[in-house]
Amino acid sequence: MSTEIYYFSGTGNSLVVARDIAEKTNGKLISIPSVMDKESIKTDADAIGIVFPVYHGDIPFIIRRFVNKIDNLDKKYIFGVCTYGNSPGFTIKYLDKIIKSHDGKLAAGFTVNMPPNYIIPSFVLKDFFKSFVLHEIAIEKQQELFINWKKKLQSIYEFVHTRKEGVLETKTDIKILLVHFLHLRETSGKTFWLKVAGFEGDTNLPFQESLQLMDWGFRYDDKCNGCGICLKICPVKNIKMVDGKPVWQHHCEQCFACLQWCPKEAIQFGNRTSHGKRYHHPEVKLSDMMMVKK
Ligand SMILES: Cc1cc2nc3c(=O)[nH]c(=O)nc-3n(C[C@H](O)[C@H](O)[C@H](O)COP(=O)(O)O)c2cc1C
Ligand code: SF4
Ligand code: SF4
Repeated sequence: MSTEIYYFSGTGNSLVVARDIAEKTNGKLISIPSVMDKESIKTDADAIGIVFPVYHGDIPFIIRRFVNKIDNLDKKYIFGVCTYGNSPGFTIKYLDKIIKSHDGKLAAGFTVNMPPNYIIPSFVLKDFFKSFVLHEIAIEKQQELFINWKKKLQSIYEFVHTRKEGVLETKTDIKILLVHFLHLRETSGKTFWLKVAGFEGDTNLPFQESLQLMDWGFRYDDKCNGCGICLKICPVKNIKMVDGKPVWQHHCEQCFACLQWCPKEAIQFGNRTSHGKRYHHPEVKLSDMMMVKK
């Protein structure tokens, strides 16, 4: 019996979860961006774990592309774990749905509450569309979440170690239900977020894919010293250095790694993030994140 744990992570929350599970299950830890160049992902492992963050109440676009590439999905024991900041909603169900479309089955799906790493509206009416701040929570609250994770790790381990099936954790969230029922993400939601990012054009991409264009909202300020860490950390090679400064290429995953890990805090999103406290999971080092692409 062999296990492979695939993960995607911008600020380390999902990396810690994946790493802890791999350690406990004696599984192999594999970063999803490192296998995305392959046309199809073939594996002899009998169990596959997929660990990733919740993005806008759904699975990130890269996870969708990743699942589409896995060979022989129907013959594996598959479990998923999503990390989230406020509410996981139905993310695990969406993972199940895409696995089912390849004749596979999500045997178990878990949710793990972690510190949020996104931006939130700051409700400044003047210039509203660019007034976003980093979502910060107190260190004590962060510690509580980390302790809760270590407790939950044991129960996930016991479940997947014995190849049990039948748990798909979701949280019924009226807001998310309403948004999906009224297709708000595909209409006003998409327009709103792209406007926030300063994207002026039009796109036919579905909402989750349209997030690739959200990088119009990033810029560097005069603290940038051209170190190139943002280029190295980006999991999807979406940053080029031009004249020693980052230029975003519009196929972004919105993982926020570039902004959160820039050592000079020189990357901003919109016009109110410059004083926001950057976040990454304290057990994760920059060098761990660089492993992502190897
Ligand atoms: C683009 C984006 C969208 C997000 N949307 C949600 C969301 O809808 N619900 C939620 O609870 N957390 C949301 N988050 C927070 C992350 O899911 C959470 O902080 C996660 O643990 C980050 O994992 P990572 O450190 O592995 O990247 C979002 C984060 C990003 C970057
Ligand atoms: S990581 Fe920050 S300081 Fe380094 S090049 Fe990128 S923006 Fe500039
Ligand atoms: S550009 Fe930044 S936010 Fe976009 S995928 Fe790369 S690191 Fe993540």
